[in-house]
Amino acid sequence: MSVWHIAGGNRLEGSTTVQGAKNAVLPIMAASVLAPCETELLNVPMLRDVDTTIRILRGLGCSVERAGDSVNIDSGYIARAEIPHSLMRELRSSVIFLGALLARCGSARLSMPGGCELGPRPIDLHLMALRALGARIEESGGELICSTPGGLKGAAIALPLPSVGATENAMLAACAAEGETVIMNAAREPEIAELQAFLVKLGADVSGAGSATVTVRGGFAAPERVGHRIMPDRIVSATLLAACAAAGGEIELRGVEPRHFSTVLHSLSECGCDIMSNGASVALRSDGNLKAPMPVITGPYPGFPTDAQPLMLAACLKARGTSVFVENVFQNRFRFTEELQRLGARIHTEGRVAVVTGVARLHGAPAVATDLRGGAALIIAALAAEGETDILDSGHVERGYERFDECLRSLGADITLTDTKGP
Ligand code: UD1
Repeated sequence: MSVWHIAGGNRLEGSTTVQGAKNAVLPIMAASVLAPCETELLNVPMLRDVDTTIRILRGLGCSVERAGDSVNIDSGYIARAEIPHSLMRELRSSVIFLGALLARCGSARLSMPGGCELGPRPIDLHLMALRALGARIEESGGELICSTPGGLKGAAIALPLPSVGATENAMLAACAAEGETVIMNAAREPEIAELQAFLVKLGADVSGAGSATVTVRGGFAAPERVGHRIMPDRIVSATLLAACAAAGGEIELRGVEPRHFSTVLHSLSECGCDIMSNGASVALRSDGNLKAPMPVITGPYPGFPTDAQPLMLAACLKARGTSVFVENVFQNRFRFTEELQRLGARIHTEGRVAVVTGVARLHGAPAVATDLRGGAALIIAALAAEGETDILDSGHVERGYERFDECLRSLGADITLTDTKGP
């Protein structure tokens, strides 16, 4: 168990470089098993989810070396197409190994994935897409036993929802399918385009990512070595900007892709923040005296990202007026708001809607991180609160933020992270 100790009230000042994207690197690491080659990934964030994925790769028989922000994966030999439950339950994106292993080995055996508790997170669309490509999948005792008796065959797959994970799984399996696969109503998130860029380097024929139709022509011409630099994390970018908006100050983020989080920038500017965006950097200035933005309504990309909803909500706790949040992607994504209320926030939730009535001040209090982005939202609120806050965290925030305490301290925040098991 870890504790984030925050003394609120400091303005955030300075500039920082944003880490590589968690949600981009994890599917790319799974994709590295598609072909027998060496993959060198750069700008890989130091995160628990990355460490778990390295353990999964090693368990499959790959040799993996990590040095600083680079990870080298040699997938020349796959010893087994099985992932133990102890690793599967650590993270949601472990399920992307399903498509990758079916493509490489023609079979896979793994259990249901874990990840943040945001309401029901089924994988029916993943399984539907893989079955359409010819996979036989039996579910027994929480385990998925998958095979491809007649080989994988290209197909037209119409996703009822533009699921990020299902699109990724279908893309990976389709790389080894005979003929053409067309994924319709595909997710359009930047991480999908990033996965396509990596697959093309692997010698796969994939096009259309970023639009609603992704086309894959099966077959590879994989080189011996592939190198890829991971894109910057758009949700970490949003987190730092929301923190500065709430606490006040002026920060610059370098090495970012502002167009990937333009909806967040728009809402922050409605709150009264000054935002200057210039190619790969974005600067935000806030006097900490915000006003409520127009309703924030989450949706699949290019809509407002669900992962940034808790961050934006935390930034609006002291904003003048009433801020409204509508969560359209996950059913149960307001659990963290109960913890924010311990700091004096006024939030009313009803189903998919949260209404925040701005308060003049927040005060420090003990709180608990309920999930990854909910934990980050608590940190934002604590930075904008008067007094001290201790956030008890069973490792949620560290799943997605690399050395977050150091990063925030470098911007002037008074924050420390201690491990209660430590000395
Ligand atoms: C990914 C991101 C997560 C982000 C989410 C939405 C990773 C590791 N995680 O999660 O941070 O919040 O996209 O941008 O990249 N659904 C089904 N059946 C399925 C799959 C999904 O009903 O088989 C539903 C989900 O319950 C949810 C919606 O579809 O309501 C969107 O989920 P999806 O896009 O699949 O999210 P993830 O890939 O799990």
